[in-house]
Amino acid sequence: MEFQSCVNIKKEWDIVGARQLGRDVARKIGFGTVDQARIATAISELARNIYLYAGTGKICFEALDDMNQKGISIVAVDDGPGIEELSQVMEDGFSTSGGLGAGLPGVKRLMDEFDIHSDLGQGTEIKVVKWLR
Ligand SMILES: Nc1ncnc2c1ncn2[C@@H]1O[C@H](COP(=O)(O)OP(=O)(O)OP(=O)(O)O)[C@@H](O)[C@H]1O
Ligand SMILES: [Mg+2]
Repeated sequence: MEFQSCVNIKKEWDIVGARQLGRDVARKIGFGTVDQARIATAISELARNIYLYAGTGKICFEALDDMNQKGISIVAVDDGPGIEELSQVMEDGFSTSGGLGAGLPGVKRLMDEFDIHSDLGQGTEIKVVKWLR
């Protein structure tokens, strides 16, 4: 399976759309219901951050099929303000919005790989991967 699809995040409802599409992709790859829920939750958190802090952006899904490993890659991209406190956002409880600050640390725990790039005034890109085992 080789495909990539993206969901634009513009309105609050798009968070739900991204979550559903991601769960669908995960199911087709072969993830069980528990991992589908983990992946869907991670997508929700990334999409909600785009909506809240960047305004607009997109979430792209890709089915990974390496020699003997299948997985899902999820990339959340926006050209919002970027994250000033990049070194702090991975600590539980760090929030600039009065949120729980549990979103990004939670995403990291739910997935196998987590990469974040952010440039002030340019935007943020977060890539996460979960492998099927
Ligand atoms: N896409 C983004 N663009 C700009 N800033 C972001 C983005 N995503 C996260 N941030 C910043 O990182 C902080 C931490 O994000 P995180 O999702 O961990 O917590 P939160 O959104 O504040 O609270 P919670 O997700 O628990 O409701 C946010 O408060 C915000 O300042
Ligand atoms: Mg959040």
